[in-house]
This record gives sequence, C-alpha cells and structure tokens, in this order.
Amino acid sequence: MPPHDHAGRRARLAARLSADDVDGLLVTSPIHVRWLTGFSGSNSALFVPADPTEARVSALLATDGRYTAQASVEVPDLSVLITRRCAPALLEQLGGAGIARIGVEAAHLSVADFDELRRVTPGIDLVPTSTRVEELRVVKEPGELALLAAACAISTSALEYVVESGGWSGSSERELAGRLEAAMRQRGSDGTAFETIVGTGANSAVPHHRPGDRILERGDLVVIDFGARVGGYHADITRTFVLGRPAPWQVDLHELVRSAQRAGRGALAPGAPCADVDRAARGVVEAAGHGAEFVHGLGHGVGLEIHEAPFLGPGATGSVRADVPVTVEPGVYLPGRGGVRIEDTVVVTDTGPTVLTTTSRDLIALD
Ligand code: GLY
Ligand code: MN
Repeated sequence: MPPHDHAGRRARLAARLSADDVDGLLVTSPIHVRWLTGFSGSNSALFVPADPTEARVSALLATDGRYTAQASVEVPDLSVLITRRCAPALLEQLGGAGIARIGVEAAHLSVADFDELRRVTPGIDLVPTSTRVEELRVVKEPGELALLAAACAISTSALEYVVESGGWSGSSERELAGRLEAAMRQRGSDGTAFETIVGTGANSAVPHHRPGDRILERGDLVVIDFGARVGGYHADITRTFVLGRPAPWQVDLHELVRSAQRAGRGALAPGAPCADVDRAARGVVEAAGHGAEFVHGLGHGVGLEIHEAPFLGPGATGSVRADVPVTVEPGVYLPGRGGVRIEDTVVVTDTGPTVLTTTSRDLIALD
C-alpha cells in the first residue's frame, strides 16, 4: 500500500488556515485526527499550527493512557500529550505557550465542550470554522484509493461466496447478514462499514431495513447493502436478488434500476455538477413513472467515513473531481411489495469511472 503522507496533509491544512487569521486549528473530529496523523484511537484532539515555520508550538496530539503505546506506533513523528481531557488540556498547554487565537471545528465540538474550552482558557479566542479538513479529504491519495479498492474486493468476494454457497431458502435475514459478515472477516475485513442491511419480501421496500427473523420465501426480492472496512476505509455495495423465479414486475423493476444506475455512472466525469449526476439517474426512474418511489439521493462520497462529501442528490452543490470515490445507488421502493437498489462504489477519473465493486448486477435467482 502506498504510505499516507500525514505531514503533507497537515501542511495543506496549514495553508488553508492562513485565510482564517488564526494561530492554528484545534481538531476534535476523530476521523480528522486520523487523516492528519494516522492515530486511530477513540479519544483524541490535535493542534495543527497555521504557520509551522513560525509556530511557537508544533503540531501536538492528545490522547489518554489507554492509547500511549498505540500513539507511539501510529504517530512516531509528533509529541503526544497523555490526558483524559484531551481538548481542554491541549488548549491549556497552548495558552501557556502564548497562542491567542485558535480555530475550532464547529461541526465537531458540542456546545458543552465549547463552553468548557472557553471557561478553562479565557485568554484564547476560539474561532468557529467549518469544513476545513472535510474539503481536503474529498480527493483521495493513491494510498487511500488502494485501501478502498481492498475493502471493495473483500466485499464482492464475500458476496459471491455467500451466493455460490446456496442455502438461502429457509434462512432468516439475520442469518444471511451474519454469513456475509463472517465471510468478510475471513477475507481480511477489519469490521463492517455500517450495519449490514438485508431486506426480504416487503422488507426490501424499506431502504435501511435492519435484518430480523423473517425467513426468506419463494418470490421474495432480497436487497443486500453492506461493506467491508480496511485501514479505516469503507466499501459500500448493494445488490438485489430474487428467491426462485422472478415475476415479470420484478424483472422490469430490476431492469429499470439497473438502467438508472448505468446512467448515473455514465454521468460521472471530472467537473460534472453533483446535481446533474443525480439527475441523469433520476430522469430514467421518473420517465418510467417511479420518481416518487426513488426516495433518497443517488449517492455519496466514501472514505474514512461511510457518508462524506460530495453528496449526489437533487439540489446538491459542487462538482465531482478526479480521484473522488462516490457511490451510485438508485433504488425504487414499492411499499408492501418490494424494492430494488443497485449500488457500486466508483472512482471518478479523467478516463472514465472506475467501478471498485465489480460483481455482477444481474437479477440472480437464488435457491
Ligand atoms: N449503503 C448504505 C447507505 O449508503 O446509506
Ligand atoms: Mn451507500
């Protein structure tokens, strides 16, 4: 795997901070701490100076005693402050070093935590900022794309194994989810990217159905939405199957969603407005009279978070760029009857979209 350039990422963040007129940024999103340092523990805060050449304090990580050893392995290049009160203790130290104005991540600091920071360090101006790190994370580096590809390869291999193993008839949704998750673990997944969705029969029309005790019946549509996680990076894939011979309406619905998905993928080119990518797929569904039953956006960025910028939906702003991974996941849901969703994780490139979740999109009949 190509290594992550954490120092380079911090330098790019520092360059952005100069416009904010702050001495640095207090990073409180654990995802952002991971992206900027490599540290993957659950309790942390990070200070990134705006001008590393003139800074009175260099980048400094705080975490608690459970992570002392892990931090020294994952972040050999930074000083680490060991404390349970990560953000307040970091700020107290910075205040003592003469730092006077610090940006905070408005979307990743609770009101209570913000109030506590103001109380313990009254001499420091806290300046709310937004999306400083999120925007840097949108375009992925080769090492990030390699981890995403690995997570997607594990996911597709696990699905193919579970499909080929048979035994679907008589199984419950919960059992199917368990089989898939075990197959991903055996293939090297660190865990699931999100709670596995298995919706059968009428439950397939519930976009985020939580797998329950329902036993599969002949004639069921089966929506499976899941993903592996590797090195923090999330795969996201959905396929829709049928148990036994499909009815004509099921074949038609599947073909419609598949056409919409193809149109969405086809619209993914550097510079394409996010709303236009959604429109390309949604227009296909609307033309077939099912627009009202496509109840969510077309897709989302994916990386260290399962849902991250950019978002592809009606009213979305911005454009997609090269080396940005997104999902393309149209669905049509007929309440009480069943639904179809087909989803791939796709990387936008200058030479066309690269699909990472490469397994068949056919309506496979299971038994
Ligand atoms: N695949 C689940 C989701 O995107 O919400
Ligand atoms: Mn998704």
